[in-house]
Amino acid sequence: MKVSPDISSLIPYKTGKPIAEVQREYGVQIVHKLASNENPLGPSPKALQAIQLALPSLHRYPDAAAYELVHAIEKHWQISAAQVAVGNGSNELIDLLIRIFCEPGEGILIPESAFVAYQVCAQAARVKRFFTPLRKDFTVDISAMIDFLQNSPDRNKVRLIFLPNPNNPTGTYIPSSEVEALLEVVGQRDDLMIVFDEAYNEFVRASDYKSGQTYMAKYSNVMVIRTLSKAYGLAGLRVGVLLAPVLAIDLVNRVRNPFNVNELAQVAAVAALADSEFIKRSVEVIWQGLDYFYDELRGLGIPYIPSQGNFVMFDTLRDVNQVNVALLKKGVILRPLFNYGFKSYLRMSVGLPRENQLAIRALSDVFKEIKPL
Ligand SMILES: Cc1ncc(COP(=O)(O)O)c(C=O)c1O
Repeated sequence: MKVSPDISSLIPYKTGKPIAEVQREYGVQIVHKLASNENPLGPSPKALQAIQLALPSLHRYPDAAAYELVHAIEKHWQISAAQVAVGNGSNELIDLLIRIFCEPGEGILIPESAFVAYQVCAQAARVKRFFTPLRKDFTVDISAMIDFLQNSPDRNKVRLIFLPNPNNPTGTYIPSSEVEALLEVVGQRDDLMIVFDEAYNEFVRASDYKSGQTYMAKYSNVMVIRTLSKAYGLAGLRVGVLLAPVLAIDLVNRVRNPFNVNELAQVAAVAALADSEFIKRSVEVIWQGLDYFYDELRGLGIPYIPSQGNFVMFDTLRDVNQVNVALLKKGVILRPLFNYGFKSYLRMSVGLPRENQLAIRALSDVFKEIKPL
């Protein structure tokens, strides 16, 4: 079979281990999955109701333009409907943007250890990946990005910059002053688009954070990606949102598959966006859970990175493979981070209070069994 080396060497995106697999492999009945940054409250009850109502119409194709959803987003995020596109999860939108804006041989610029989908989608499209290192405290080094864009021999190949803000898996954010410093340098270019990936935007507590949407009026090369997989509780339905200049939305609508967001996803997303009570509760649960994790990890002497998402990354200080298997045997699924280059780290999503306690108890037991490196 003749295939491009970019395709044959592609390492697929590693998803969180499914609950049923852990039950099968480790013979445990009760499994707590805190591995995929999902909403521990489940979906919004209003979304479930909307799905029930839509079930009898499943023999029909969905609205290819997702009119109701696009207009619900217009209202929810205060942006013109002409500047909105929707995708089969934000992952699809990342993929589409790379295919639209980069020719093979051109590239994307991303911070090291950024959300891994940017790399996977770029490689699949035969598009180059350029990286800038993180700072020692795991934050995105914007001055390194500016330096790359001004001085690297590859600077003219960059067509897209992805800025996960906050980032997964580190949970760090880019303060507005640094975002603005970058925009000062590249915000007027029309051969380069800057994509803020704001999957965790709702959970941010840092006071010096600003959404990329703030800058869309001033800079015509700024785009924002959001998702309904996290605070809105619809990861299983796959709904992503792109806020972008009208011209970019037009391109996305040409390239995407016509029915990329299915009917149940569309109606559920409209209902979830309107359920402000649910969103508020989701954010509160995450903040309480994070504070609980911080206290407990500190008590265990485990270094962690303060997070603006719905998860926390921490250093087990041990052989993380051993730690992970021991946790799975206890029915707790967390996420090892080898593929991000973090050898001894795990990422733990916030669950319900009881799940958080069980995860901490399991970690505490495992840390007693397995000696630090
Ligand atoms: C930073 C970031 N962006 C995008 C996504 C993709 O989300 P989805 O495709 O479910 O919308 C994720 C998922 O974990 C993420 O962490």
